[in-house]
Amino acid sequence: MLVAPSLLSANFMRLGEEIRALCDAGADFLHIDVMDGHFVPNLTFGPVVLEQIAKYASKPLDVHLMVENVSFFVELFAPLKPEFMSVHIEEVKHLHRVIESIRKHGIRPCVVLNPHSSEQDLKYILEDIDMVLLMSVNPGFGGQKFIPSVCKKAKMLHHRIQEYNPKCLIEVDGGVNEKNISLLKESMVDVVVAGSYIFNQSDYKKAVDSLR
Ligand code: DX5
Ligand code: ZN
Repeated sequence: MLVAPSLLSANFMRLGEEIRALCDAGADFLHIDVMDGHFVPNLTFGPVVLEQIAKYASKPLDVHLMVENVSFFVELFAPLKPEFMSVHIEEVKHLHRVIESIRKHGIRPCVVLNPHSSEQDLKYILEDIDMVLLMSVNPGFGGQKFIPSVCKKAKMLHHRIQEYNPKCLIEVDGGVNEKNISLLKESMVDVVVAGSYIFNQSDYKKAVDSLR
C-alpha cells in the first residue's frame, strides 16, 4: 500500500517541519488539498504557499483540486510539476480535454469520484488516466467519518481497470485509519490518503507504517 499523507491536518505554524517529518517518515507522496470556497465550503492552499511546498518537499506531490474553473487551476499549478493532478468528475464538462492538458504538462492525470458518483462513468476515460481517486468522505474537511461503500466501488473499479488500463492506480481519500485499512487492501486499493489519522499521532513513521 502506498501512503499519501494529507497536509490539510498539518500544523500550519510549523509547515516546513511537518513536511520534513512526513518525508522522513516514508510518505510516498504528499497529498495537497486545494479548495476554492466554491466547489467545497472551505479554502486552503494558493499558489504562493504551494510554490514553497513544492520547492521544499523531497517527495512527489499529489494535488487534489476541489475547485470550480478547473482548467484555470490546472494551468496555475502545472509549473510546480506535481506527480499527480486530480480533477473531480462532478465539476468538469470536457473531461477528456482537461486530462489531455494535464498530461501535456508532463503530469500524471487522475479523476476523482465523490461518494455518490459511479465508477461506471469512467469507462471511456480510464485508458487516458493514471489514477482514480475515490472519495470516502464528502470533500471539504479533514477528520470526517469513513463512508464504507467506497470498498464496493473500489472492487468494481478494479475489474474495470483490469479490462481497460491495468496500470491505473486506485486511491482512496477520507477517514482512512488503522480500522479500515485492511478492508481497503482487500478492495484492491493501491494508495491511501490519510490526514487526521497520521497527524493525531506523535510518531509519523509508525502511523505511516501502520497503513502500509
Ligand atoms: C477532504 C480531503 C482529504 C482530507 C483527508 O476533502 O480531500 O484529503 O485531508 O483527511 P482525513 O484523513 O482526516 O479524512
Ligand atoms: Zn484530498
